[in-house]
Amino acid sequence: MASMCLIYSSLLFSLLLCSIEGRNNIPLTVEEDLELENELQSLNKPPVKVLKSFTGDLFDCIQIYKQPAFDHPAMKNHKLQIRPSFQTKNDVNMDEKFKPVLDPGFNDTCPLGTVLIRRTRKEDLIIAKELPKYFRNYGSRYHVLDSSEQNYYAIAESQTGRYHGFESKITTWALPNVGPNQVSQNQVWMIGDVDADYDEQTVIQTGWHVYPQLYKDTSSRFFTFSTTDGYQTGCMNLNCKGFVQVSATHAPGYAFKGDNLSTYGGLQAYFDFRIQKDPQTGNWWLAMDRVNLGYWPKELFPNLDVSKLIQFGGQVRTPNDVPSPPMGNGHFPQEGYDKASFFLFSRFIGEDNQAYTPGKGSASLITNADAKYYQVVGDPPSRGDWDVAYGGPGGLVAG
Ligand SMILES: *[C@@H]1O[C@H](CO)[C@@H](O)[C@H](O)[C@H]1NC(C)=O
Ligand SMILES: *[C@@H]1O[C@H](CO)[C@@H](O)[C@H](O)[C@H]1NC(C)=O
Repeated sequence: MASMCLIYSSLLFSLLLCSIEGRNNIPLTVEEDLELENELQSLNKPPVKVLKSFTGDLFDCIQIYKQPAFDHPAMKNHKLQIRPSFQTKNDVNMDEKFKPVLDPGFNDTCPLGTVLIRRTRKEDLIIAKELPKYFRNYGSRYHVLDSSEQNYYAIAESQTGRYHGFESKITTWALPNVGPNQVSQNQVWMIGDVDADYDEQTVIQTGWHVYPQLYKDTSSRFFTFSTTDGYQTGCMNLNCKGFVQVSATHAPGYAFKGDNLSTYGGLQAYFDFRIQKDPQTGNWWLAMDRVNLGYWPKELFPNLDVSKLIQFGGQVRTPNDVPSPPMGNGHFPQEGYDKASFFLFSRFIGEDNQAYTPGKGSASLITNADAKYYQVVGDPPSRGDWDVAYGGPGGLVAG
């Protein structure tokens, strides 16, 4: 397809022959198309091996030093960090009703010295220009919403402070009833300096989402996202040069298998994750399912010395004229531990690099939709663990 475009590009008919739909269904020009092809080629390195996910997506095993982030000009002198300098112990005992998501569903494994990266497709790059606004947290004053869409959330929000990380366990669910132009997400936002100029606003995010427009299916997927300019641009998964991957088994963009999802009233599947600033290198590490996945490198996040605000919970996006999609697992938080969506054992990590359960009054619960549609419950307790439940069936039509 790419080479066909090149061959024909000198012909009069080139626009017709290789037009592929761009943003808002406007066909790409030959120049735009060529630019995307170049970007694709620079992102998708020659794989040592190719793995196929049960969803049909291709994931490449790439030599660790050849991954996209190292092409970024600011990364010229970056020293690869193979593992975090801090200890990653996990001392929580889970009820036997809860099980970690274990099986990433690939047909093979990556060889030593390589990392697993979801192959970027042209559609990913086209959508990437539109995408940042979908990840925007409610608090950003920026990237003004298109008036034809709505953004609803039900989240917990920390007090402003100086945070070096966050950890929790998110239950994962199937959520097939998300429409083609809708998004339903479950995530944490770690926001840098909330008072900074908006075009320097830096946020790193992770969680799971259902995003049909992007993946062409309604599977529930693990994702990462970051912005350094208040959501004018952003970097999702490994579709850009913004994240250093070190894992050969887990990768942003992979889907959870059906038999590894929670069942209503039954077994609860979760993945634990931790975002933590490395005290020695300043890189922000992400671990998932107890695997060190990789990090947001210090060089690319100059305005993320500390996170001053943490938010986590559910967020959905919908066009005005269709009923809003379910959030979480589509049930209300009050239904309880085996029937609602949860962030379990939520903890902040302080400047001393210790995880702690924040005390009473140290976070608030906020939502911008009527309780008929979405809710969030679970104030930080004065003692014991902090579990936050959130979600709802949606169905709100903005008109
Ligand atoms: C896994 O899928 C990829 C892509 O289709 C294929 O090249 C590879 O041979 C498969 N590996 C195994 C062990 O089936
Ligand atoms: C996930 O799938 C694997 C293999 O299919 C299984 O061993 C494990 O128990 C599953 N986990 C859950 C939470 O169902």
